[in-house]
Amino acid sequence: MTIRKNPAAPRKILVTSALPYANGSIHLGHLVEYIQTDIWVRFQKMRGNECHYVCADDTHGTPIMLRAEKEGITPEQLIARVWQEHYDDFAAFHVAFDNYGSTNSNETKEFAQGIYRKLKAENLIEVRSIEQYYDPVKSMFLPDRFIKGECPKCHAKDQYGDNCEACGAAYVPTELINPYSAVSGAKPELRNSDHYFFKLSADTCQQFLREWTRSGSLQAEAANKMQEWLGAEGENKLSDWDISRDAPYFGFEIPDAPGKYFYVWLDAPVGYMGSFKQLCAKSGIAFDDYWKPGSDAELYHFIGKDILYFHALFWPAMLQHAGFRTPTKLFAHGFLTVNGEKMSKSRGTFITARSYVEHIKNTEYLRYYYAAKLNGTMEDLDLNLEDFVAKVNSDLIGKYINIASRCAGFITNKFEGKVVLPQRMFNYGSESQGVESDSLQASFASKASEIAALYESRDFAKALREIMALTDQANQYIDEMKPWVLAKQEGQEERLQTVCSSGLNLFRILTLYLKPVLPELAKKIESFLNIPPLQWSDAQTLLQNHTINTYQHLATRLDPKLIEAMVAANQESLKPMTESHSETRHAEHQQKAIAPIAETIGIDDFMKVDLRVARIVNAEHVEGAEKLLKLTLDIGEAQPRTVFAGIKSAYDPEKLKGRMTVMVANLAPRKMKFGLSEGMVLAASGEAPGLFILSPDEGAQPGMRIK
Ligand code: MSP
Ligand code: ZN
Repeated sequence: MTIRKNPAAPRKILVTSALPYANGSIHLGHLVEYIQTDIWVRFQKMRGNECHYVCADDTHGTPIMLRAEKEGITPEQLIARVWQEHYDDFAAFHVAFDNYGSTNSNETKEFAQGIYRKLKAENLIEVRSIEQYYDPVKSMFLPDRFIKGECPKCHAKDQYGDNCEACGAAYVPTELINPYSAVSGAKPELRNSDHYFFKLSADTCQQFLREWTRSGSLQAEAANKMQEWLGAEGENKLSDWDISRDAPYFGFEIPDAPGKYFYVWLDAPVGYMGSFKQLCAKSGIAFDDYWKPGSDAELYHFIGKDILYFHALFWPAMLQHAGFRTPTKLFAHGFLTVNGEKMSKSRGTFITARSYVEHIKNTEYLRYYYAAKLNGTMEDLDLNLEDFVAKVNSDLIGKYINIASRCAGFITNKFEGKVVLPQRMFNYGSESQGVESDSLQASFASKASEIAALYESRDFAKALREIMALTDQANQYIDEMKPWVLAKQEGQEERLQTVCSSGLNLFRILTLYLKPVLPELAKKIESFLNIPPLQWSDAQTLLQNHTINTYQHLATRLDPKLIEAMVAANQESLKPMTESHSETRHAEHQQKAIAPIAETIGIDDFMKVDLRVARIVNAEHVEGAEKLLKLTLDIGEAQPRTVFAGIKSAYDPEKLKGRMTVMVANLAPRKMKFGLSEGMVLAASGEAPGLFILSPDEGAQPGMRIK
């Protein structure tokens, strides 16, 4: 642990959140982390500390490469689009990074290559040949997630190469039965290739990590996990870490290793440094002050518990052996559940940041709710949608905002906006005789250090409980003083002004305490109170002989109907695809559920299928048939064809009449229970519900050949 040279000087603090993958949208789960970090950073800044918050998109790896290919764009184009989307989402939730970068930057590349060179010089890099599945059609090695096949344990079909979603078994891809490439559908072959390893098993790494675990850099739960991974003293449980991937790969090339790229997880945390370097360039901060060994700056990484392994083992070991400082502390948090269950597309609880904004608009409500639940541990956190509405409406609107709306009008209308307190109130701690708020003001102010300590330790839940208890006291004071009664009584003007001025002063301190959580609302209130941005130390001062601006409406109740509409809109099967979402959703879906593409055929094979434009002249139900409709199809021949098509579940026959579609005209006729079927109409279907017959573009005539 570093000792700060001058404890009176502001602390120098560098804070990061994990870098979100550039292959998906930000959702409410992610926001648990970014909102949590942002609250902590805003708190540090209010305290007068020199605190910097950086993040970036995590842009490299096979999924991003393949997704770009599928969309017909370059990976650079894809990550630029997603970067903007992420950036806007974070801004909407008031997550205020000092720099938001990308791992695909020159800064990150230089640090990654520099760290690698240093590790190599330290003898911590080793090249080994490994055997791995290769897709002969796509000419690429396949990551485990892109190999599918039958589970070796329970024989469920179409399971991923690393574990079975049906029975939960973990295995290696070579154990899969009948493996196939999820990229091309081809049967993968085992091939050898040289891989680069970071020698985590080396004594120096294991020794260092043992010490680091004991240094207080981890929460208790995380330190326990580390013990498990490290094993008992002398047990050397860590294995070397494969840090290379073969071309084609979207990432950084490994120096002096043509065709080899850094695995995305090598450069991802280096992105913290890259993004900070960009901040240094624009603001004149000295990079080394924060990253050289022995630095007195503090370095904190906020992360989810799922990526603890990377941050607690690989990352500090890399930094240590490449001549940088190691993190002061990792702050790991748990996962979000919604209504007590994992977020789910079918229940409509897989909610993107964008969808929240579209439906609810006010993002500070979610900030408040998350803060009320976050306690600095790795426990999971539940967003109960009913409780969310109740809490926002009762705490924020019913208690907190209420204070201002009860006092401000009188000050504006009767006293020209003047906040005036009797002189004796400046004497905190003196025995007050009055029924006024002297002691209340003092006791609110005296809570500043306790609440600060709770923010500091990331127990936001407890901080908010304390603040809400004060809010109750402020309301009680107003209830007892009854300004609305005083306003009607002769000769009570001075008293009315004092009561309302006191109420607004209490409201001001509450705003200060809530500001890390509700920055936008605080800004509105600062402008209404006509005061400069509140700092933590302002808790010890009062508004006196001060003119406020006219009270304007500050916040509205959260209407539960908005929540219902949001959940309904996110329910996968009901969801109409909006223009802006269809593209990304399409790609997301393809990546997860793409059925293997059939074996390659030549053009001659294809030309054997005679596809024709057909007009549906008649469509009718078939007595006794559960799935079939009887179609009469005109393809320009003398006699129309009869085709039985299994599309009853999706189409009303009346609506099909007169439509154009596509049929296979040279399929051998098939005798069915209900009659002879003389061909087949084409329809699309997938894992999602629905069946969709094809239509040619306008102008196509019955009988035209499709080729
Ligand atoms: N790209 C990596 C992080 C690299 S850091 C050098 C990654 N990205 S992620 O997009 O999957 O997740 C980003 C952060 O959001 C992680 O810390 C992750 O734990 C967190 N969360 C993602 N889903 C979450 C929930 N459902 N609940 C809480 N946090 C979640 O991991
Ligand atoms: Zn299984």
